[in-house]
Amino acid sequence: MRLSVFGCGYLGAVHAAAMASIGHEVVGIDVDPRKIESLSQGKAPFFEPGLADLLAEGVASGRLSFTTDASAAQGAAVHFIGVGTPQQADGYAADLTYVNAAIDDLIPYLSAGDIVAGKSTVPVGTAGALAERITPTGATLVWNPEFLREGWAVQDTIDPDRLVAGVPAGDEGIRAADLLREVYHPAVAKGTPFIVTDYATSELVKVAANAFLATKISFINAMAEISEVTGADVTQLAEAIGHDARIGHRFLGAGIGFGGGCLPKDIRAFSARAEELGRGESVAFLREVDAINLRRRERAVQLVIEGLGGSVFGKKIAVLGAAFKPHSDDIRDSPALDVAVRLNGLGANVVVTDPEAIENARRKHPQLAYEPARDEAIRDADAIVLVTEWDEYRRDLAPEHASSLTAGRVVIDGRNGLDAAAWRKAGWTYFGMGRP
Ligand code: UGA
Repeated sequence: MRLSVFGCGYLGAVHAAAMASIGHEVVGIDVDPRKIESLSQGKAPFFEPGLADLLAEGVASGRLSFTTDASAAQGAAVHFIGVGTPQQADGYAADLTYVNAAIDDLIPYLSAGDIVAGKSTVPVGTAGALAERITPTGATLVWNPEFLREGWAVQDTIDPDRLVAGVPAGDEGIRAADLLREVYHPAVAKGTPFIVTDYATSELVKVAANAFLATKISFINAMAEISEVTGADVTQLAEAIGHDARIGHRFLGAGIGFGGGCLPKDIRAFSARAEELGRGESVAFLREVDAINLRRRERAVQLVIEGLGGSVFGKKIAVLGAAFKPHSDDIRDSPALDVAVRLNGLGANVVVTDPEAIENARRKHPQLAYEPARDEAIRDADAIVLVTEWDEYRRDLAPEHASSLTAGRVVIDGRNGLDAAAWRKAGWTYFGMGRP
């Protein structure tokens, strides 16, 4: 099938490459010529495991192409909208500029019978408004939210755990859902749940999922705060409650909290939309979820200060990690970088290392010092702060090896990823998040 994908960022570029890999003929369209140039050469403009291979294969096969020219969408049966919906500069609501611009660009090239499939995360009610603009062309709007995780984006796109299609009522909606089933044929063939619903539900499914995940993380971080004043160990607490199948172990990792381009802005946009709908109180708890999350970054900073005897001024601090999570070079709303920036602001001599995110971090925070080699970053450091749990820090950094390089023996484990006993045994003062 011929497909077009508007927006070639983390979502759209992966979607375009993944759709080509399952046999579709795909054109990716983006307003950024640099992104398009890189993608056209089969090169990923950002780090995402498995994407580079998929792009190279797709471009070489002739099934995958990229352009800045929206007219290339003409003739595609399904047009995906995968542009960003960032937080507005002056408030909590989502900025729909890029979604509206993509629809404006697409409308002149739509034909009767085409499907427009919205994948961007939008405030509930958006799809209904967009459908009114699209309907006169004879095309049908479907809302088809995306649940991919960065770092697992390729796998999540080709083999998702569920597919959701918000469609209009009647035969038009049935036909649109059938066409989407054809698009996602490998997942459908293996019996992946395919939920056909209305626009509002499909939009809400996405924000509800992210709100739930954010709440789960802040819940365990709230337990970390209580553990800190009682001497309890939140990692053992999470292990114990997670054995209850109704609770489960995933997303119960206490630490410096969630970041990235999705969870923080999505819970804020949800609050803003609920206020607009006169139901602010229904999701008032999301403000608390946000507040707990942000407090954990400050807690990590306080632990560094405590570990260094009351002040970080003039101390060399190695910050292990810049990305908002491992297997990503994304630094949007990264708690790791926030901790580094705060320490730097307190007069510490901060050196940040990360296997993938240094370039992005340097562009955003040129005031920080960066060192790609882990061992060079920790050399002569007074303290080590682990803030992104890459394997090279969490699993592969032996405390004895660290001792041979650093000046001090203070380690702050912002992700509770290190073996506390092993570090203590090697002579280190270890601080975790919510554990003694
Ligand atoms: C999130 C959702 O998990 C995806 O399902 C969704 O599609 C995506 O947002 C989106 O809306 O596009 P992502 O932002 O890639 O995916 O990252 P997550 O894996 O959800 O991690 C988010 C943050 O939570 C990270 O900073 C991570 O370090 C943190 N986290 C995660 C914790 O602090 N503790 C945990 O136990 C788990």
